[in-house]
Amino acid sequence: MRTRPLKVALLGCGVVGSEVARIMTTHADDLAARIGAPVELAGVAVRRPSKVREGIDPALITTDATALVQRGDIDVVVEVIGGIEPARTLITTAFENGASVVSANKALLAEDGAALHAAAEKYGRDLYYEAAVAGAIPLVRPLRESLAGDKVNRVLGIVNGTTNFILDKMDTSGAGYSEALDEATALGYAEADPTADVEGFDAAAKAAILAGIAFHTRVKIGDVHREGITEVTAADIASARRMGCTVKLLAICERAADGASVTARVHPAMIPLSHPLASVREAYNAVFVEAEAAGQLMFYGPGAGGSPTASAVLGDLVAVCRNKLGEATGPGESAYTRLPVSPMGEVVTRYHISLDVADKPGVLAQVATVFAEQGVSIDTVRQQGKDGEASLVVVTHRAPDAALSGTVEALRKLDTVRGVASIMRVEGE
Ligand code: NDP
Ligand code: HSE
Repeated sequence: MRTRPLKVALLGCGVVGSEVARIMTTHADDLAARIGAPVELAGVAVRRPSKVREGIDPALITTDATALVQRGDIDVVVEVIGGIEPARTLITTAFENGASVVSANKALLAEDGAALHAAAEKYGRDLYYEAAVAGAIPLVRPLRESLAGDKVNRVLGIVNGTTNFILDKMDTSGAGYSEALDEATALGYAEADPTADVEGFDAAAKAAILAGIAFHTRVKIGDVHREGITEVTAADIASARRMGCTVKLLAICERAADGASVTARVHPAMIPLSHPLASVREAYNAVFVEAEAAGQLMFYGPGAGGSPTASAVLGDLVAVCRNKLGEATGPGESAYTRLPVSPMGEVVTRYHISLDVADKPGVLAQVATVFAEQGVSIDTVRQQGKDGEASLVVVTHRAPDAALSGTVEALRKLDTVRGVASIMRVEGE
């Protein structure tokens, strides 16, 4: 074993970074044996230097992250600050100054992954980011390496722990939305700004990363259709229950049947209770990958939190350190297919629509006509009337999303439709 240590700069020492530092210290001997050289924490960049950080030598703490990555003796930079800047500049500076990078920063990778990969390649460094998608679950490396010989056609799953935690609490314990979000934040699952979680930005970033790797193309966060969970009500969840379903925030990336384009979307959806994703509880994540030769694979595990995420960071750290010692680099970006990303309107989905209507002759026929005019076929209709008003729940067959949203718009204009109580896509059947 080499006795001279590999030097690691840690950028950020919050929920994830503090766990990375802890595991690096407590598992130092095992990590050295697995890598073939000791790894040494050479500096820790933070925003608030006076904060007490258990187990970390105060002499390592700095607020000057730029000076740390410019030192020239750093082998690996672990970026767990988050956000676009200064993370982007720090990573690029790290490459320029001889370091490879491990990052958990999905927001940055989904925004500027191509440029970061290009910089890594230019300077002959590694850029690893297993922790950026689905916490502890090995997903990036299986897609990038294990499935590199197969053809992936679909990636579908729950990739945000915070929103899954909130929906699960609302469904199973009747907790309110705010109460569940506060609990998820206290447990370290939420982003620094939880809007990123609840409005679907975090899941959209992960969907972009997954689609890019799975389909060997480039997908940015702006290409991903995004709807969060802020509009999901207790009534939606109750309605899903009545249908034998539950509500989950799903990320779905698909290659078109003709192989000429891809789609990527994040939105809440009803899924049957019998579907494996329905039993994904709390902050767990689960992702199905469908590949031509392999068939269907399911990846499941803790999707957020300091310790699970640190596990993924440490796995990357070991891999990158091994590459350093072997004077090699791991796989870079594979985006040769350059497939266009189709708009949401072209995606084929199913809708569950709950309407408040007048309970009088001809209303059902009027509603059915709107569906027919938009070319949308109805699967089931359930009506419950009371005092001249009725609640009408329609579940459609599969149709282009544009036709389904056009149907909803046309329904809103009917005099007999008092209101659209809820609209939700149905998946997993
Ligand atoms: P935190 O907010 O807990 O930690 C951020 C850290 O970065 C803090 O230590 C903060 O310093 C430091 N920091 C912020 N700005 C600067 C700056 N300009 N210069 C130096 N240091 C700075 O975030 P998390 O640990 O939760 O998340 C980190 C990254 O990991 C993000 O990209 C996130 O998306 C990702 N991630 C998080 C997961 C989770 O479950 N939490 C799971 C998967 C990925 P200080 O301590 O002084 O405030
Ligand atoms: N905020 C993210 C989540 C952290 O809740 O899934 C893990 O990426």
